[in-house]
Amino acid sequence: MTPFDYNTAGAIRPMLPDDLDAVLRIQILAYKPHLHESRTTFAEKLGLFPGGCWIGGRSVAYLFSFPWLQELGVGLNAPLGRLPATPDCLYMHDMAVDPAFHGCGIGRALAHTALASAKRMGFHRVMLTAVQESTGFWSRFGFKVVSGNSNRTLLRTYGDEERACLMIRDITAPDVRLLREV
Ligand SMILES: CC(C)(COP(=O)(O)OP(=O)(O)OC[C@H]1O[C@@H](n2cnc3c(N)ncnc32)[C@H](O)[C@@H]1OP(=O)(O)O)[C@@H](O)C(=O)NCCC(=O)NCCS
Repeated sequence: MTPFDYNTAGAIRPMLPDDLDAVLRIQILAYKPHLHESRTTFAEKLGLFPGGCWIGGRSVAYLFSFPWLQELGVGLNAPLGRLPATPDCLYMHDMAVDPAFHGCGIGRALAHTALASAKRMGFHRVMLTAVQESTGFWSRFGFKVVSGNSNRTLLRTYGDEERACLMIRDITAPDVRLLREV
């Protein structure tokens, strides 16, 4: 596996509105069609919380995140409306890497960027909805599947076949690996 080379592949940088074309291109390559979200949905998230949106590796990867409430969950391709006044977690809504660059460490770099920013913002938890059999990837970064009464209605927006599941990372007890790499 080739390590992510920040000099040749491009570092992680904040997303700008002009990056949405690249986001839509990567989404088509990285996600099954039933998981696609609209430009409007992406643009709303970028507008509400630009500080949680990043582009990586010379526009071959992206990540959207925003302050949120654990109990609310987030539906697929659904508007947020507004951010909660008293958020209790950072929600990593969507991370994708162009398949031509999978295995180069770009996903790791994006995940660490979001976890580090959650810490800086003072959140104790980071939350996400895992799709496309990605729980193994997220568990490498300390995320654990939320069992029990997670929001079934919202998870169904990802499709019954998808087996989408909520995962949470408690960042008050960081693992050794994250401490070393962030
Ligand atoms: C999941 C995804 C973001 C990983 O990105 P990536 O850049 O290929 O990942 P990295 O190269 O940084 O891999 C980091 C580590 O995770 C491992 N890994 C990558 N994908 C994995 C997976 N699906 N399951 C388990 N481990 C995985 C890598 O082998 C690597 O291991 P190492 O530390 O031992 O070398 C990427 O495969 C992707 O975009 N998938 C399609 C979109 C998607 O499903 N996103 C997740 C939605 S919740």
